[in-house]
Amino acid sequence: MSLASFVQQLPKVELHLHLEGAVSASTFADLAALNSVALPKPTAELYSYDNLPDFLKIYDLVCASIKSAADFSRVTFEALERCAVAGARYVELFFSPHAHLAHGVSYSTMLGGVLDGMRRAKEKYGIVCKLIPAHSRELGPERGEQFLDMVLAERMPDVIGIGLDYNEAPFPPAPYVKMYERARSEGLNVTAHAGESGPAENVADSIDLLGVRRIDHGYHVVDDPALIERCKEAGIVFTCCPSTTLATTVWRDLAAPGHAIRRMIEAGLNVTIHSDDPPMFATTLDREYALVMDNFALSPEALKKIALAGLEAAWLDNETKQAWMSEWSAEIDGLLKTELLPN
Ligand code: ADE
Ligand code: ZN
Repeated sequence: MSLASFVQQLPKVELHLHLEGAVSASTFADLAALNSVALPKPTAELYSYDNLPDFLKIYDLVCASIKSAADFSRVTFEALERCAVAGARYVELFFSPHAHLAHGVSYSTMLGGVLDGMRRAKEKYGIVCKLIPAHSRELGPERGEQFLDMVLAERMPDVIGIGLDYNEAPFPPAPYVKMYERARSEGLNVTAHAGESGPAENVADSIDLLGVRRIDHGYHVVDDPALIERCKEAGIVFTCCPSTTLATTVWRDLAAPGHAIRRMIEAGLNVTIHSDDPPMFATTLDREYALVMDNFALSPEALKKIALAGLEAAWLDNETKQAWMSEWSAEIDGLLKTELLPN
């Protein structure tokens, strides 16, 4: 078996994926035409940007193009289909309610469509998906409380946690202490984007003030050796996305010895690998695994460890997690017994 095939077949979880960032350029163009959203560039040039704010401008346009429940169902099904093809068995999917509310789309329309897309993907591919509505940190804590009210008012079993995303550098986590405290007291899981374009302090504050045990990205942790040690002791999980770093962070070369994800793995941090906004960064989940394998010279056994660390970090009940852990582990050992040939 080729290494590419091993990476694709490796059972994986996807814990850091944004629904709206998972829309292909052609579906984006279709939906923009359908819903009369003007696009600034030809389709082939839409998905190119050099920093986080520029990326978020296009991401907001994708959001504006998804209007009806049928649109939500379509983009959810297509996103999960690509996950399944990349070998993902379980997905925790972020979505951005504020960006649709801004265009008059109700939370129930979004949820209805997304749940329908999830049902269809599960039926066709067996892929299991749970949801993480995320608050844009740019909107402030008052809007954050309203966001949480909305999520709690239409609480669904498939909505398992909340996230915090958008432009990090000017919007640190501290104002969200109360919102996160309330979310946790309501039994929601919590995660936050930190240390992507913002400093190590944002990683520390997300852990200490917001109470998260999972950090999305987290790369600037490498700037603070004491924080690295603290995160190792506490078993903090970092959901890293290699291709995203090339456009939104200061680490633009995956082959460089100083790349943050490489340093995080070498430091022994609990790193899991994900795809963030795959078509928008021209990637897929299996390609993200292949990138770390090739650039950081990781063995197939090391990829097994990363895949199972992802499962361990998932917000699943213990019974399912343990059952999948033994099944997946045995399945991966079977793959490892075959001769793995360079691509
Ligand atoms: N929303 C989608 N992708 C994101 C990223 N990489 N950082 C912050 N917010 C995002
Ligand atoms: Zn993200």
